[in-house]
Amino acid sequence: MTDSFIQNLFADRIGGSQYGKSTAIYKFEKIKRAKRAALAANPGAEIIDMGVGEPDEMAFPEVVEQLHKEALQPENRGYADNGDSGLKQAAVRYLDKVCGVKGINPETEVLHSIGSKAALSILPGAFINPGDYVLMTTPGYPVFGTHSKYYGGLVHNLPLTEANNFLPDLDSVPKDILAKTKVLVLNYPNNPTGASATPDFFTKVVEFAKKNGVVVVHDAAYAALVFEGKPLSFLSTPGAKDVGVELHSTSKSFNMTGWRCGFVVGNELLVKAYGDLKDNTDSGQFLAIQHAAAYCFDHPEITEKIAGKYSRRMDALVKVLRDARFNARKPKGSFFLYVKAPRAAVKKSGARIDFKSAEEISQWLITEKLISTVPWDDAGAYLRFSVTFLAKDQTDEKRVLDEIGSRLNDVRFEF
Ligand SMILES: Cc1ncc(COP(=O)(O)O)c(C=O)c1O
Repeated sequence: MTDSFIQNLFADRIGGSQYGKSTAIYKFEKIKRAKRAALAANPGAEIIDMGVGEPDEMAFPEVVEQLHKEALQPENRGYADNGDSGLKQAAVRYLDKVCGVKGINPETEVLHSIGSKAALSILPGAFINPGDYVLMTTPGYPVFGTHSKYYGGLVHNLPLTEANNFLPDLDSVPKDILAKTKVLVLNYPNNPTGASATPDFFTKVVEFAKKNGVVVVHDAAYAALVFEGKPLSFLSTPGAKDVGVELHSTSKSFNMTGWRCGFVVGNELLVKAYGDLKDNTDSGQFLAIQHAAAYCFDHPEITEKIAGKYSRRMDALVKVLRDARFNARKPKGSFFLYVKAPRAAVKKSGARIDFKSAEEISQWLITEKLISTVPWDDAGAYLRFSVTFLAKDQTDEKRVLDEIGSRLNDVRFEF
């Protein structure tokens, strides 16, 4: 088939005239294919999916009820644009009650988002000219960096390593790059490492931002999913509002990934710039959804219940993996357990399977053990297990976790 003229019109940022022709298969597609192949090879078998990056349950019934009620209101029907004050005020109450952040002005320092992903794709437009740098943590959620590159920007990756408790080493940024850096993007509790920030680290971030004239974007998508203590907001750090914004979302904290609603909060000028770009990007989230989200932010006990479930599952998963010799340690939040990938599995017969990367063991786990995980080879070889696996009830949850244990116990892993 000859190429359509369209093929020659694609922008360089998506591959130019070569767009769609690459035969490279990306990580998540490889996982999908391996799952399909494992199912085909083992008809009727149960694949245990520990790779899912979103909640396994629906939004709570009272939230669905709110949506229904709000959807019936004629005044909610139209373009929401940058939103009314309902969600903004609930966001301010939430930050105060849940994170102890005071003094946020709901009219000038908060604006809704159609999910944090949308906000992360909009915000680079406010800063990035060709040649400007963004500091991103790796492994991580790449959306801000991807859009920065679309604008001709460059990404400097800061590795998250176990030795640094998965916090970036801000002093490691070379001087010439720092001089061209406009934004530092952080995410705690972190996807995929499950690590949490500390007040001391955030204090250092504010100092770094002020000293070097860098804006901070803190993606707090998992902020309230903590297993002990109170959620830590970047904005609770003295001076944080001078340098940055924080992104909150109903997706993970309230089982509402498909609803697409969150908020951007913090520095007034940054929120204004986000709002101006957003105005030219979307027409706002349906007000009924915004109002249901506002209900959620006034009911943080919903998140506490969800976090309680993840905490219980995490305890059990840590035990199962430790029994299989993984160095698993319960994180303080999120739903991710990030463990060092084994270098080899030795069968009882003595047969040995070597793994050169996390991707190799992840493929082996799907193919041989019908357990799906997400591999990360960006800063060391690690596997991410998510406790959002499907289970009908607590008995079934225990069965699934025991099943993982029994599938792993006929080999000895070497690290
Ligand atoms: C770190 C991180 N940020 C943002 C998102 C997207 O959140 P939202 O559903 O609010 O767009 C995700 C989703 O996986 C995530 O892991």
